[in-house]
Amino acid sequence: MIRNDTTPRWFHNAVIYEIYPQSFYDSNGDGIGDLPGIIAKLDYVASLGVNAVWLNPCFDSPFQDAGYDVRDYYRVAPRYGTNDDLRNLFAEAKKRGIRVLLDLVPGHTSIQHPWFVASASRGKTPYDDYYCWTRGRRENPGNYRFVSGIAERDGFFMINYFSCQPALNYGFADPDPACPWQMPTDHPEVRKVREEMRKVMKFYLDMGCSGFRVDMARTLVRGRDPEAVRHGLCELWGDYRAWMRKNYPEAVLISEWSRPGDSISAGFDADFLLSLHEFAPAFASLYRNMVPVPERPYELRPTGPSFLSPESTGNSRSFSAAMERELAKTAGRGYLSIVSGNHDLIRLRCGKTMTEMKLAMLAIFTLPGVPTLYYGDEIGMRYVEGVGNVEGSYDRGGSRTPMQWAPGAGAGFSTADPKNFYLPLDPDPERPNVASESADPDSLLNLTRRLIALRRAHAALGGDGEYRTLESAERDAPWIFTRSLENERFLVVLNPCKTGFPRRFELPGKMKRLEAVGEVAVTSDNGSVHLEIAPHSGAVFMQI
Ligand code: GLC
Ligand code: CA
Repeated sequence: MIRNDTTPRWFHNAVIYEIYPQSFYDSNGDGIGDLPGIIAKLDYVASLGVNAVWLNPCFDSPFQDAGYDVRDYYRVAPRYGTNDDLRNLFAEAKKRGIRVLLDLVPGHTSIQHPWFVASASRGKTPYDDYYCWTRGRRENPGNYRFVSGIAERDGFFMINYFSCQPALNYGFADPDPACPWQMPTDHPEVRKVREEMRKVMKFYLDMGCSGFRVDMARTLVRGRDPEAVRHGLCELWGDYRAWMRKNYPEAVLISEWSRPGDSISAGFDADFLLSLHEFAPAFASLYRNMVPVPERPYELRPTGPSFLSPESTGNSRSFSAAMERELAKTAGRGYLSIVSGNHDLIRLRCGKTMTEMKLAMLAIFTLPGVPTLYYGDEIGMRYVEGVGNVEGSYDRGGSRTPMQWAPGAGAGFSTADPKNFYLPLDPDPERPNVASESADPDSLLNLTRRLIALRRAHAALGGDGEYRTLESAERDAPWIFTRSLENERFLVVLNPCKTGFPRRFELPGKMKRLEAVGEVAVTSDNGSVHLEIAPHSGAVFMQI
C-alpha cells in the first residue's frame, strides 16, 4: 500500500456532494435555487456525512450553458445571491465540517465577457490574444472548431464547447507552422491568460473556498503531438498546483478529464471517472444500460444491460479491470473519483429499481478513491424525460430537475408556482422525497447515510485503503473485493445475478456483517470465510 503524502490529509477520506445551485433549494420564491437556499439546507448536507461540497458555476453569466459561460469571474450571479452570500456559505459550511469547492471554468468564457467583447472589436485592445483568432478570413483554422460572422474583427475565433464559449488562449504545445495564429505556451500574451486565471483562483481561495472542480481541464493546451500536449498540460497544471500547495496547502484541484493517469501526473488531486474516453465502456457497464455516442460524450444510447440491472448476467470485470488499471497509474499520488452521477450524465436511477440503487450505493461508497454523490441520487431521483432544452441543457435537463424535499405540489423546493420552476419537477406522484425517506430506516437515503458514515470512520474504506479483487467475471458471478489498511479489513460482496452463489475465501479473522441489501450470510472458521450469497444481493463485512 502506498500512502499519499502529496494531497491534503482531509481529502484522503473525503466524500463529495455535488450541488447544482439552481435546483437545490429556492429561498426567495422566484423558482430558482440560490445560495441562501443552500445555506438553509446545510444541516441536511451534513446529515449525509459528506465533508465537501462541489458547487456548479454560480458566477455572473448570460446562462447559455447554465453558467459554464462566465461573464464575470469575480461576481456571484444575482439570481443566486451576492458575494457575501458565498462568503457566508463557506463560513457556515466550515462550522459543519464541510469544505466548499467551486467550479472553475478556465477553458472558455461567455461570448459576453468583457475580454471577449474587447478582443472581438475592430480596434487594437490588450485582450486581442486572450482568445485564439485567426488573423484573417483566409488563414487555415487547422483541426479546430471556429466561429465566424459575428464579430467586427477580421478572422475567426476558436470555441471550446458551444459557439457562445470562445476558448481562452493557453497556447499550443507544438504550434503548427501552417497555422501562424497558434501561439506557443510560453508566449507572453498567453502567459497573461494563465495569470488571469490564477487571480480568479486566488480571489476565491482568499474568500474561503477549499479548491476547485476544473471544467474541461484537459482542453487548455492544444497541439498535434499527444506527448507534447501532455507535457504542456503537466507544465500548466503543475505550475498552478505548486502555487496552490505553497499558498493554500489545504486546497485541492479535481479535474473533469477522465484519464487519471494523465490528470494526476499533471497535478490534480483527483479525477472524475466519467463516461469519457477509454473509460466509457467500463463506466456504462457498472451503471447503465447506456453508452456514450463517440465524440458526443453527453449523448447516450442504449446498449446491453448494466452490471446492476435485473437482466444482468453479472459483468463486473469490465469496470473492475479498468479501475484497477487507473489505480495502478495513480497510487500514492491522487485519487479516482467514482461518481453516482453528475449534471451532464443520465441519472443513476434511470432503468433501476430502488434495490439496484442500493446495490449501486453499496459499490460507490466501498470502492477506492474519493466518491462524489450527485444531489438527489441519495433519494433515487429519476431522470425526467422531455423537459426540453433549458439554458443549453439539451438532454441533460432531465438530470437537473428540482430537489425533492417533501411530498406535495412543489416538493418543498420553492414557494413559487411549480409552473415557474427553473426546470419542471418529476411529474411522478410517487416521486421520492427527503422527508419520507428520512423517516424510513430502510430507505435508500438512510442506507446512503450509513455507508458514508462507515466510509468516513474507516481509513481502509477511504482513498488510501488497498483494493483487491477476490472475484470478478464477465458473467454469471458476483463481484467480491476487499479493502484494507494497516490492521483493518473490509469484505464487499455484490451479486447482481438472478442466481445465488456459495463462496469460500482464505481470509484471517472473523467477519461481521455491517450492511446488507438482500441476504448474504457469512461463517468464518480457521482462516477461511464462507459466504452464502442470495440472488440480487450485496453486503459489507468488517473483519473483527
Ligand atoms: C463540462 C461541464 C458541462 C459544460 C461543459 C462546457 O463538461 O460539466 O456542463 O456544458 O463543460 O463548459
Ligand atoms: Ca431563488
